[in-house]
Amino acid sequence: MADKIQLLPDVIANQIAAGEVIQRPASAIKELMENSIDSGATHIKVIVKGAGKTLLQVIDNGSGMSETDARMCFEKHATSKIRTADDLFDIRTMGFRGEALASIAAIAQV
Ligand SMILES: Nc1ncnc2c1ncn2[C@@H]1O[C@H](COP(=O)(O)OP(=O)(O)O)[C@@H](O)[C@H]1O
Ligand SMILES: [Mg+2]
Repeated sequence: MADKIQLLPDVIANQIAAGEVIQRPASAIKELMENSIDSGATHIKVIVKGAGKTLLQVIDNGSGMSETDARMCFEKHATSKIRTADDLFDIRTMGFRGEALASIAAIAQV
């Protein structure tokens, strides 16, 4: 029998995985606002253009990020919220998997 199985390229695998986190623009806004809340923000401004297909922008007054972290945050499993498996038993943030921004970056122009 001829072989028919092949491994998907990383780009496509990442886009499929991203679809489980980000189904529509509203999912992206949810993730971004959760990040704002996790960063300690007390003011969150959301700008949406073209029903979220043209622009989604979230501005907050939370902790902010260093320049290096602003690059790092788009990597898969990049998070400041947990470090070890034990931390999973004491989650106090809305996110912790380090997947949201990587997923958004896989399916949107960031
Ligand atoms: N609005 C924000 N303000 C400050 N830091 C942020 C913000 N959004 C994301 N981050 C940082 O980027 C990291 C990655 O975010 P994300 O992909 O949503 O993963 P998670 O929230 O699960 O850690 C966060 O752990 C946090 O350190
Ligand atoms: Mg998050």
